Amino acid sequence: MMDKEQKYIDVTGQIKAVTEGEENLIARMATMSCLLSEAFEDFFWTGFYMVDGEELVVGPYQGSLGCLRIAFGRGVCGTAAATGQTQLVDNVHDFPGHIACDSRSLSEIVVPVFDQDKDLIAVLDVDSESEATFDEIDKQYLEQIVGQVFARCTISPN
Ligand code: SME
Repeated sequence: MMDKEQKYIDVTGQIKAVTEGEENLIARMATMSCLLSEAFEDFFWTGFYMVDGEELVVGPYQGSLGCLRIAFGRGVCGTAAATGQTQLVDNVHDFPGHIACDSRSLSEIVVPVFDQDKDLIAVLDVDSESEATFDEIDKQYLEQIVGQVFARCTISPN
């Protein structure tokens, strides 16, 4: 089986190639959700929550039904949004205030997404049905991908 780093290198190339020249934020997010979800079979829910005032509202995703809105500071996504820091959670049941959109999700990583002015525009949420799926390699590559794909986005969701 191809190792995780090689998969990330390959999928990063695909995402950049497909989104090159496309400025629309939703198109980029939808494309990234699809390609990440196709590349990694343990990505059970892969998608974006977009900043909408003091809340997050669900954006493009692949997976089972997600909650529509999450307040800043609530759950893993809300904590990533409030702190601007990636959240790596081995078991969501140990995370205070975790929001169970789907009880099958067990571990997750949430990466903040910033625009070119360094303002938070969204978070990328990836959930897995297994415990401790995500590690520093996922953090490194997912932060790098969202940094490269959204840093030059000029279209704000609001
Ligand atoms: N797990 C997230 C909620 C979103 S979904 O799982 C799709 C959280 O606690 O923030």
